[in-house]
Amino acid sequence: MNKENNKEKTPLQLAQESMEAHSSKAIQDPFYPAWHISAPSGWINDPNGLIQMNGIYHVFYQLHPYSAEWGPMHWGHVSSHDLVHWQHEPIALAPDQPYESGCFSGSAVNDNGILTLIYTAHKNNEVNKETQCIARSFDNGKTFQKIPENPVIAGPPADGTADFRDPKVWFQDGCWQMVIGSGKNEIGRALIYISDDLIHWKYRGIMCESDGTQGTLWECPNFCTVDGTDILIVSPLRMKGYKNFYCIGERDSETGKFSMGKCRELDYGISYYAAQVFQDERGRVLLFSWMDMWRQHFPTQPNGWAGMLTLPRVLHMRGSTLLQQPVPELALLRQKRLLSGSFTLTGKNDPLRTLQGECLEIFFTFRPSALHSGFKLGLRVSHRNVPRTELIYDRIQNTFLLIPCSPLLDNASPRPAPCESENELLDVHIFIDCSSIEIFIDEGAICISQRIYPDKDSIYYDLTSDEDLKFDSFDVWSLKTVMKPSL
Ligand code: FRU
Repeated sequence: MNKENNKEKTPLQLAQESMEAHSSKAIQDPFYPAWHISAPSGWINDPNGLIQMNGIYHVFYQLHPYSAEWGPMHWGHVSSHDLVHWQHEPIALAPDQPYESGCFSGSAVNDNGILTLIYTAHKNNEVNKETQCIARSFDNGKTFQKIPENPVIAGPPADGTADFRDPKVWFQDGCWQMVIGSGKNEIGRALIYISDDLIHWKYRGIMCESDGTQGTLWECPNFCTVDGTDILIVSPLRMKGYKNFYCIGERDSETGKFSMGKCRELDYGISYYAAQVFQDERGRVLLFSWMDMWRQHFPTQPNGWAGMLTLPRVLHMRGSTLLQQPVPELALLRQKRLLSGSFTLTGKNDPLRTLQGECLEIFFTFRPSALHSGFKLGLRVSHRNVPRTELIYDRIQNTFLLIPCSPLLDNASPRPAPCESENELLDVHIFIDCSSIEIFIDEGAICISQRIYPDKDSIYYDLTSDEDLKFDSFDVWSLKTVMKPSL
């Protein structure tokens, strides 16, 4: 293609062409997911603009379509009828306006039938480097037009700093509410705005802020009400040991302020950040995250892609504990039942030794009170037994620990997740997809999401324990491939 041709093309067309041109290499990579959302090629990070409209789910994501490294941000787009079969849509946003060099994270709303995106326009080297902007679609999400009134919020209030991004918008108390991430004097903050028309915004104040230990800058703040309980989700920068936390609290509808109660880690995996929530047309609160993290190893980069999203999770409360469960629609992925029933592991008769596969769903239940020491579950194990990824249940400490086979983040080491369950029967639900593992324990009270990069022959599974182990149920399915895009 010569330069003359390029001149006539829009930034969106050029981005689309670049992403498609490198797709065949990316999807041939054995690490490319069989059923999780990723871009056809290029780099992705946060999920953005989550919404269901007219029955169709839309998921957008931070995208750099020109290489497998972070760069000027675009919004990629997929859509689905069932949260399982995703179709790649044209790239939704490119940084093509004088007020932006990147289209950073944001959200989506249904504004009287018009799919509307609210995002942060990031402009390098400006004093107000982050402003809030709107783009609307008049063709059900095929294309988006940035409105002439942009930016609709031209800079931070005195309570914030130039790091002022990731608007999450929802409708409540008769108007639009927007929470934005920021921070001041090393204290992460969520700022709240209101509007009647999505264009004119009034600053209301600090919705909530760090207690001094919860990060210096809050990214991607998300608010939702789950089974009647108000929840704030935060992606904090520089919070020791944490990547994403949620707080149970109460939102005051007069002031918009959120009073923080108990806070907990959202997911114990190392590859997890930028969780976003939305309410679907059935009223369910659903969550997607980026299943990677800044400063992580991305061994897929030479193959032209990096980053994927988690599977969709539905949120519920159990007392003051947030439960995250894989959406039931994921049963559509099941291909073949490989194991089913109850069994007792006695050392020699490990039924998992018969399993093979790169994409499996595993669900089992057991009674912790019947155990003394615990067990080790080998996942994606090599025929030589190492390298291996291992889920360790320590009955004495009452913790679950996932040790991945591949190198982790700089300075990061896997942390044991404490199990606080009072349930007599404990359930463990595992989803494996080529280069990722997601584990949901105790009805989703504990989640562990982790990217793994096993070698080619690591397709085996095993279960070991020092004692006899009874599993009340143990089911395993192989899963279908639905996400290798044909563009
Ligand atoms: C979170 C984040 C957001 C920002 C985006 C840029 O991972 O840093 O704060 O909008 O990524 O890609």
